[in-house]
Amino acid sequence: MTLLDGKKVSNDIKDEIAAEVQQMKARGEKVPHLAAVIVGNDGASLTYVGSKVRACKRVGFESTLKQLPETTTEEELLELVNTLNQDPDIDGYIVQLPLPRHIDEEKVLMAVHPDKDVDGFHPTNFGKMALELETFISATPFGIIELLQRYGVETSGKHAVVIGRSHIVGRPISILLSQKGPAGNATVTLTHSRTQNLPEICRQADIIVSALGVPGFLKADMVKEGAVIIDVGITRVPDETRERGYYISGDVDFEAVSQKASFITPVPGGVGPMTIAMLLKNTLLARQRNRDNG
Ligand code: GUN
Repeated sequence: MTLLDGKKVSNDIKDEIAAEVQQMKARGEKVPHLAAVIVGNDGASLTYVGSKVRACKRVGFESTLKQLPETTTEEELLELVNTLNQDPDIDGYIVQLPLPRHIDEEKVLMAVHPDKDVDGFHPTNFGKMALELETFISATPFGIIELLQRYGVETSGKHAVVIGRSHIVGRPISILLSQKGPAGNATVTLTHSRTQNLPEICRQADIIVSALGVPGFLKADMVKEGAVIIDVGITRVPDETRERGYYISGDVDFEAVSQKASFITPVPGGVGPMTIAMLLKNTLLARQRNRDNG
């Protein structure tokens, strides 16, 4: 069994990006600038955004954190989005999800200018991704593809089963795995809450991508010997015995499933860190595009 070490690979990618930033600086160019918007005080979201801002510092990007109160109105958030769209200093930005319930998430994501949408959530970018055109590919699916590629995991002709059809992970990774090109050419089954006989379908999989958010959902008896397991779940499970009051669990029963897997991502340290590295990669791409377009 080989561990797909997202922590190590993401550090390699950050080193590559940092080297690129150094060259930009040496040429007297502006360095990439990422802004992150967060509304409210959700603990997990604050942690993620904090990691994204720290990662910017690590590679030499500029970063701006816009932290808004839970009571922010949709109109106020849309105003900020509009300001960021027009700010020439900001190459790309993200609006951290989930947003408070009184704000229409779709409306906000549609308002982000596609050229600054380094999350790749705008329909223009999602559509380009689906059509295999150059675009910002959402960080989590992009990170999974990069991880498979860097470990030389064969996907061509394999049966990949994706669990979960979210717009952020399940749906886009199912498209990418089926595309022509690197870490593609798989035969993909996209499963969801209405799928019948999920364990049986999973047992036929050469590759399983689980993006469900249910701790320990994928058990060893649902996995074929030698399967490749990608665990996208990051759930905080309350635990009074821990100092933080919780522990992080993936969707996969790691101890039992790793005995059968050929490759498997750990949680934490698998897909999570890759997501941040790919967000940086998209921000670098945004800056290079802005530079090249004058
Ligand atoms: N919430 C969970 N994942 C993500 C992500 O990749 N981007 C944003 N903006 N919010 C998220």
